[in-house]
Parts: sequence; C-alpha cells; structure tokens
Amino acid sequence: MKILTNAEQIVTCNTNGKNFKSGKELSELEVLTSHSIVIENDLIKDILPTQSLKNFSKYEIVDLRNKIILPGLVECHTHTAFAGSRADEFKMKLDGIHYEEIAAKGGGILKTVNAVREISLTEFVELIKPRIEDFISQGITTLEIKSGYGLDFENEIKILHAIKILDEIYPIDIVPTFLGAHTYPKEFRDNHEEYINELVNKMIPHIAKNNLAEFCDAFCETSAFSADEVDLIFSAAAQHGLKLKLHTEQFNSIGGLDVALKHKAISVDHLEVLKPEDISKLASSDIVCDLLPGVSFFLNHHFAPARELIDSGAVVALSTDYNPGSSHILDLHLIMQIAALKMQMRIEEIINAVTINAAKSLTRNDSVGSIEIGKKADFSVFNTNEYSDIIYSVGRNLNCMTIKNGEVIYSRV
Ligand code: NIG
Ligand code: FE
Repeated sequence: MKILTNAEQIVTCNTNGKNFKSGKELSELEVLTSHSIVIENDLIKDILPTQSLKNFSKYEIVDLRNKIILPGLVECHTHTAFAGSRADEFKMKLDGIHYEEIAAKGGGILKTVNAVREISLTEFVELIKPRIEDFISQGITTLEIKSGYGLDFENEIKILHAIKILDEIYPIDIVPTFLGAHTYPKEFRDNHEEYINELVNKMIPHIAKNNLAEFCDAFCETSAFSADEVDLIFSAAAQHGLKLKLHTEQFNSIGGLDVALKHKAISVDHLEVLKPEDISKLASSDIVCDLLPGVSFFLNHHFAPARELIDSGAVVALSTDYNPGSSHILDLHLIMQIAALKMQMRIEEIINAVTINAAKSLTRNDSVGSIEIGKKADFSVFNTNEYSDIIYSVGRNLNCMTIKNGEVIYSRV
C-alpha cells in the first residue's frame, strides 16, 4: 500500500456521490488539510486525518510537504492527432484575415487533412508522442483525442489506430472520438449526400464494430454540417452504440444545439455564439457544456457565456481544444488562466471544470475526476501551498508530479 502524506491541501472536488457539478455547486471544492490518502493497487482506499495513521511502516510513503494534491486533470476535447503546420495561416490571421475565410479558400481543416493523408502510421505516432508527454507533465491523467483530419475511410481509421497505439504506450487513459464529420473533404465538396452515406454506412459501422472510438462528434456550422445532416449522422452513431458530442454554436447558431439535446449527447462544445434564449435549455439539462476559451483567445473571437451558464445552473467543463488552426495551445493551465481572466469564472469553478465535469464529458466521472474512496488513484500534485496559485501563476505550469492508477508517471520534484 502507498500513502500520499504531508500535503498542505488535498482539493478533493468531492460531489458526495453525484459525480458532477452544476450551477452553484461548481463553486464548492472541499479542501482537506492534515489528511493523507491511502492507495491500494490502482484505487483510493481511504482518506484519513494524518494523526489517525499509526503503523506508517506498512506503507510506501510519498512525502508531499509544501505541495498540494488535486484529482488527475481531465482534458476532454482535443485534436492532438494532427500533422503539418498552419503557421502560415496564423500569420494571415494576424493580418486580419478571418479563420472562416481561410477555410473557404481550401486552407484550414483541409490543409491539415492533406498533411495527415501523407504521413505513415508509424511517423504519425512518433509525431504525437511529445504532445502527450507534455499533457502528462501538466497533470493530465485522462485525455480525449479526436480523429477528423483524415476525412476518408483509410485515413480516419489510420488516425484512430494511432490513438489506440498511443493509449497502449502511455499509462494515462486516452479516450478516442470519431470526428469524420469535421468538414466535407474536397472529393465530396459538391456531393454532401455521398459523404454522409460514407460516414453512416461505412465508417461508423466499422469503427463501432472494431471499438476504435467511444464517441462520435461532428461540427455543426455553415461551413461544415447542417443540423439535419448532424441528425442523420447522430442517428447512425447512436444506433451503433457510440456516445455523442457536438461542436456547435462556434461561429453561427444553426440548430446544432437542439439536435444534440434531441439525441441526448453527452456534451456540446464551443458555444461562443450561444443565444441568450438557449441558455435555459442547457441549464435544465445534464449535458456538459465544454467551453474552449483558447479558441476565442487565439482567434480574437467572442468568449462563451460561462458566467451566465453557471449562474443559470448548467454543467460547465473547460478544455484546450488543442488543434493547429483555432487553438494551437497545448496548455490546459493557460486555458484555466484565460477562463479566469476573460470569462469571469471563479478559481473553484475552473478547478471543477477540468476535473469532475471534464470527466463527466467523457463519461468517466464514476471512476475519475474527484478524490473519493473507490475512485482511481489519479492525481496531479502542484508545487504550492494554496490552490489559487495554479491560476494566479499565469503562463506557468506548477504541476510537479502526475500519478496515474497509483503510480508516479511524471515527477520534477
Ligand atoms: O474545435 N471547430 C472545428 N474544429 C476545430 C478546429 C480545427 C482546425 O482548425 O483544424 C475546433 O475549433
Ligand atoms: Fe474542437
């Protein structure tokens, strides 16, 4: 047995069994002092006042003096599996050219698709490895990665295979999402029906049958898929047992939200242009609102109405949306800091948003996302005495140890 002891604070994000936080609950963190965490195998066996522990010699001791413990962070929305660079488009954006304008000219997602189609599986895995190692060094123990830059059978499967290989290599949990409906590939630019047919009758059945993805995602946007098209794709995905997520209300509000709610999607992601009258639909549902402030920061675009969503009772999570075009930000800590500075989220709300609520966004909230007896022994350890410093230290990563399934997988103590 192992024991984590002497930490200045244990931020548990305890939900008393509810396993997610909505509205006002997001401001509750539960902070324990003078407590120790007992780990048996890969699980949290006990959380006890340190004073009450007698026979220390039976434990392997991890001394976390001058440090604090949080649940392992959960990164619930990334496009980490990309190849190539879009630095040229970044320069265009700095000159004032809009993201959607670049995409309409064949740049954007389709530029990354060209690069992904050219790379071999082996090279692709090697390219992605350092990105995953970077996430681990930030305290992330559960990481979602989407496909979506292949946009044909062979290349979407190649991406999902790369994600599977990476999940086997690294000790963290990598959750695969199929995003074949990211945009229309150039071959089907004028034949949307045929591409939907490929998605619905070929890709989704194969991916579900071979367990290559847990979720199916889509991009509901004027430049990508309409609400009716998403409806068709979601019906097929659900029929094959895939859980649903939706990129929606990013630049235009075209009905994606209602389709996501109709299909009982697990999350709706982006929401930068969410209409005020739609907030109540989200507030009265358990659907997770995955907010991605890195996109607004990177594209100089509106921020999602985080304050209004939380104040009206919604379940809010936060994520990097790490991708080469709209949020080239491989840094969940910076995202947390932007959420505080630009979306008026409180520090406690932010911590719950990247732990228990992000875990709900991946339907892993019964096993990770909070420090509770019986959950996985996944922790992020920070080099500070007080949790506010994680957000206050803008531009810095204070994580100094990552523990997954009870094992230290990263340390710079
Ligand atoms: O979440 N919105 C669509 N997809 C990504 C961007 C992908 C890209 O630009 O490569 C996003 O912002
Ligand atoms: Fe995204």
